[in-house]
Amino acid sequence: MNLNNKTVLLTGASRGIGTYIAKTLAEEGAKIIGVARSEDGLNETKAEVEKDGGTFESLPFNINRINDLSTLVDEAKALKGSIDILVNNAGIECYSEYQDYSADDVSDVLNINLHAPMELTRLLLPEMLENGGHIVTIASLAGKKGVAYNTPYSASKAGLIMWTDGMRQELRGSRVGISVICPGYISDAGMFHDGHLDPPAMLGSSKPQAVADAVVKAIKNNSAEIIVNSGPIKPLLALGQISPRLGDSVVRIFGVSKVSKKRINE
Ligand SMILES: NC(=O)c1ccc[n+]([C@@H]2O[C@H](COP(=O)([O-])OP(=O)(O)OC[C@H]3O[C@@H](n4cnc5c(N)ncnc54)[C@H](OP(=O)(O)O)[C@@H]3O)[C@@H](O)[C@H]2O)c1
Repeated sequence: MNLNNKTVLLTGASRGIGTYIAKTLAEEGAKIIGVARSEDGLNETKAEVEKDGGTFESLPFNINRINDLSTLVDEAKALKGSIDILVNNAGIECYSEYQDYSADDVSDVLNINLHAPMELTRLLLPEMLENGGHIVTIASLAGKKGVAYNTPYSASKAGLIMWTDGMRQELRGSRVGISVICPGYISDAGMFHDGHLDPPAMLGSSKPQAVADAVVKAIKNNSAEIIVNSGPIKPLLALGQISPRLGDSVVRIFGVSKVSKKRINE
């Protein structure tokens, strides 16, 4: 799909990786409707996009309100007409030993990271099936191998990966493409960067621009899944599938759990 003049509904557009995605899609000629709770953050992204000659409309909304997402879709359509592309980027993490989570902690992560992307897609799909469209969802490598002390997040991201997988098969032959992006640790901006910890040395980190570039590539090529990581990780993920215990050992040796544990009570 060509991005020029396409209308994109982008969640999580107030900061972090979302800012990079907004700017990169706008550089391709797309018109962005950015969603997040922070009006100030959205306006900062708007200023950055417009500085480079792009188009960005702010749409403040709390996507945790699953049953109100039809209002968000109506408001987005009122701004720009039909939506061609949905980028599900908003996400939250919540670090804890599992028994110490509240039920609300768990449902907030599942709602914002998993249910909201699924519901927005459900609401936008009928029109996309008529006119053509694309859905890109930002999952995580934490959805490929579970991460201790961030397990609702891992569950939500694994859910996104498998939901996209099923949807891709369902949408085969239609005018709608669907892709999932799985970033590892991201430096310079975003939720990992904001935790001020170093990534495990053997895993390293990638730049947020690499995620934004993956979003563009996914839309243009109708990619199924793109992993954004500093080094090749697919053989290790395959090993984890063949032998989960061996996968656990690799994760332990890499020090992933240690880094996560430091983020409890952040
Ligand atoms: N950074 C990483 O290392 C990394 C790695 C793998 C995957 N990811 C994924 O990449 C995506 C972007 O993450 P990021 O690192 O850019 O995180 P971030 O800097 O924390 O930004 C998260 C974005 O989501 C929005 N958001 C959160 N809760 C929301 C809600 N209830 N309603 C509407 N918007 C909400 C935030 O806006 P408001 O707070 O203004 O609402 C913000 O714009 C996420 O899906 C994340 O899981 C990140």
